[in-house]
Amino acid sequence: MTNPETITHDVIIVGAGLAGSWAAMVAARQGVRDIGVLSKIHPLRSHSGAAQGGIAASLSNVRPVANTGPRGPLEAVPPGAEPPDSWELHMFDTIKGSDWLGDQDAIEVMVQEAPDIIYEYEHMGCVFSRLADGRIAQRRFGGHSAPRANYSKDYTGHVLLHTIHEQALKHGVKFYSEWSLLELIVEDNICRGVVAMEILTGKVHTMRAKAVMFGTGGYGRAFKITSNAYANTGDGVSIAYNAGVPLMDMEFVQFHPTGLYRHGILMSEACRGEGGYLTNKDGHRFMEKYAPDKMELAPRDLVSRSEQTEINEGRGVGPDGQGVYLDLRHLGREKILERLPQVRDLAIEFVGVDPIDAPVPIQPTAHYSMGGIPTDVNGQAIADAAGTPIVGLYAAGECACVSVHGANRLGTNSLLEASLFGRRAGYAIADFIKNGAELQPVSGDPAEGQRQRIRKMLDNPGTESVDKIAQTLKQTMTDNCGIFRNEARLKVALQDVKTLQARFQNARTMDKGSRFNTDLLTTIETEHLLNFSEVLVTGALARTESRGAHSRTDYPKRDDTDWLKHTVAHKGADGPVLSYKSVNIDFDRYPPQERKY
Ligand code: FUM
Repeated sequence: MTNPETITHDVIIVGAGLAGSWAAMVAARQGVRDIGVLSKIHPLRSHSGAAQGGIAASLSNVRPVANTGPRGPLEAVPPGAEPPDSWELHMFDTIKGSDWLGDQDAIEVMVQEAPDIIYEYEHMGCVFSRLADGRIAQRRFGGHSAPRANYSKDYTGHVLLHTIHEQALKHGVKFYSEWSLLELIVEDNICRGVVAMEILTGKVHTMRAKAVMFGTGGYGRAFKITSNAYANTGDGVSIAYNAGVPLMDMEFVQFHPTGLYRHGILMSEACRGEGGYLTNKDGHRFMEKYAPDKMELAPRDLVSRSEQTEINEGRGVGPDGQGVYLDLRHLGREKILERLPQVRDLAIEFVGVDPIDAPVPIQPTAHYSMGGIPTDVNGQAIADAAGTPIVGLYAAGECACVSVHGANRLGTNSLLEASLFGRRAGYAIADFIKNGAELQPVSGDPAEGQRQRIRKMLDNPGTESVDKIAQTLKQTMTDNCGIFRNEARLKVALQDVKTLQARFQNARTMDKGSRFNTDLLTTIETEHLLNFSEVLVTGALARTESRGAHSRTDYPKRDDTDWLKHTVAHKGADGPVLSYKSVNIDFDRYPPQERKY
């Protein structure tokens, strides 16, 4: 007899950000009637909404004014003029940004389809900022050789998320708001559903489905200073890993150069795209030393390392010298109010500085997780380096690794990737369902297993504080597995993670209730942080080179002979088991070359 607490859907999507909502909307539009989307928070609080500066696509609506240099003013491209941008340029920039670790077949799909997804957003009524003639406005972003960030002031993620959420509702998608994923059910390489908890009641349900998609976001909360929402605790990647799904390239974590000092809250790269400067305590625009051509618009890995070098060498600002300045004053009041209203408000609210009048203290902040669940370009999850699909399991967005970002993502390619591969996953899922996919049997009672796990957490009389464990983890990840890494530090980080995993066994959850137990949620999330951090550090320790965001002071050079490959981690009895997968490179068109800016 079916357990009355078991819920079934044709499709279950976990995560209501851009990737999950696009997939749900498209699958519904393609005729799949029974779709449930789980979100740990209210869907419109999903972290996609926090992206500010733009979504990339080579629309060629604007171009630099002739002879004004790489940071000069932009103008609308007159009708009939030569398009200044192309998908080929976007492709090269993305490959170079990825330090040649991005899979070029996937990048090609993304950059070719990019304009189309912008127009689909536009046709849904998305409120982009506009040029005087009505075309979508574009601005510069780091590492992009043309202005191709399509934006809505500095609320781009917010408006995209609202647009797609409305569409998903319109197509009859059911949202489970404030439900927390606990387990992914995969048996014999076939996905059969998930187990999730309704946070309001504390009730745990097995949720069976013919297809499951993860759009669960990134894992930046493993670090002390981060732009990531509190919810970004890597639940999806951790739970997938526990279910036998591999994780790819987890060691690559992007630090965004402009997080608000001490808070980590994003101050959009659009600040620099619009012409903002970075200065040290002496008022010097230090980027001229590190990237004389691109200056502040070099890619994020390079700018964050430059800032950290200034800080480490004693030229930082703030009481502890751990910041540098973002100076927008020369942009003028009007431009700041028109293009950067959110970052202005954030700076006033959180550090008491109005960027119109004074430079804003900022510091690098853990921002984006390049690694995740390996997938193909249709979101199909992959079980191994040979490319075996996990039947019925899909992933897209930050929790997935297609891999279009390789070792370092370019700004604005994230909203693009989440939207576009979410959309592709939606089509693939619809085909899978319409081609006769069936609900697969589930062994035993997975929900009961999770209830017991939760009971054990609640009954644990332990003496350890969950919060202290989480804070210690974040500190060691920041100190020892952050912007600059080396063998000795990574070994400390790994040992710390293992020690904290052991201490976690003795951790006490203070709130013993069942209704809206956020203390219990924190315990569960901390277990995830400890779980995937081990994978992250193990991959970083093994990778004896510097590439993109993975910068080893003991191996300062990129090593294409030994390391032009993806890290693939499976869960073993004694920790992560690493293997490697080749990168898809078109050696005729885009052979690896030295990465200079
Ligand atoms: O800086 C930003 O506005 C963030 C955008 C992104 O990460 O793509």
